[in-house]
Amino acid sequence: MRKLTYFVACSIDGFIGDPNGDATSMFAYLDEEFLGYLGSAWPETVATQGREQLGLKDAENLHFDTVIQGRGSYQLALDIGVTSPYGHLREYVASRSLESSKDPNVTVIEDDLVGRIRELKAEESDLGIWLCGGSQVAGELLDEIDELVIKTYPQVYGAGMPMFGTGFAVTDFTLEGIRTFGNGVLVRTYARKR
Ligand SMILES: NC(=O)c1ccc[n+]([C@@H]2O[C@H](COP(=O)([O-])OP(=O)(O)OC[C@H]3O[C@@H](n4cnc5c(N)ncnc54)[C@H](OP(=O)(O)O)[C@@H]3O)[C@@H](O)[C@H]2O)c1
Repeated sequence: MRKLTYFVACSIDGFIGDPNGDATSMFAYLDEEFLGYLGSAWPETVATQGREQLGLKDAENLHFDTVIQGRGSYQLALDIGVTSPYGHLREYVASRSLESSKDPNVTVIEDDLVGRIRELKAEESDLGIWLCGGSQVAGELLDEIDELVIKTYPQVYGAGMPMFGTGFAVTDFTLEGIRTFGNGVLVRTYARKR
């Protein structure tokens, strides 16, 4: 089985965005050191447009060959006329309202989200699956998540969109690594305890 990894940006207090999901305040921390790290260690998590700007257009995928997003997260791309925000990956979007995909690289998952993710995890591949978010889909897929990679920006939101839109349940993870950056950003990697 390959891994489903929730690679996500959040505030110190665990929010992935403001109450509407807007995380643009975190962009202030995308300085040269941190962008250099993202580009060299996680190039496939940089959206297509950003890859061109950062000289990553032809960068090899290092961790993932597939991405899953909820329609709420995908909508941010649609709103700026982008139908394939991660064209270097196989893209899946969970949605019951998008009748079909507007892009040949994007497959819409209308039902049995968990079952479809289990099928993707069972595929033979050296690379894993990136759970991009947002909150609702991450909450529904919590039981399927094998790894967390949490980029924590040194900001407190006080309120906002939680990392997991789910009810209370304790789920244990093992800390596997912490990387710190000069501007106060942390990247923590956790493996699921099974
Ligand atoms: N900080 C970060 O790293 C980060 C990363 C990603 C996203 N975000 C933020 O997260 C926000 C979006 O999060 P969100 O919680 O509002 O939305 P979301 O989880 O991205 O998407 C929710 C939508 O997914 C679809 N969906 C959910 N469960 C489904 C199922 N079982 N089967 C089929 N479709 C299903 C539904 O789409 P339909 O309504 O079309 O049926 C639902 O409205 C954005 O504002 C974005 O900025 C932040």
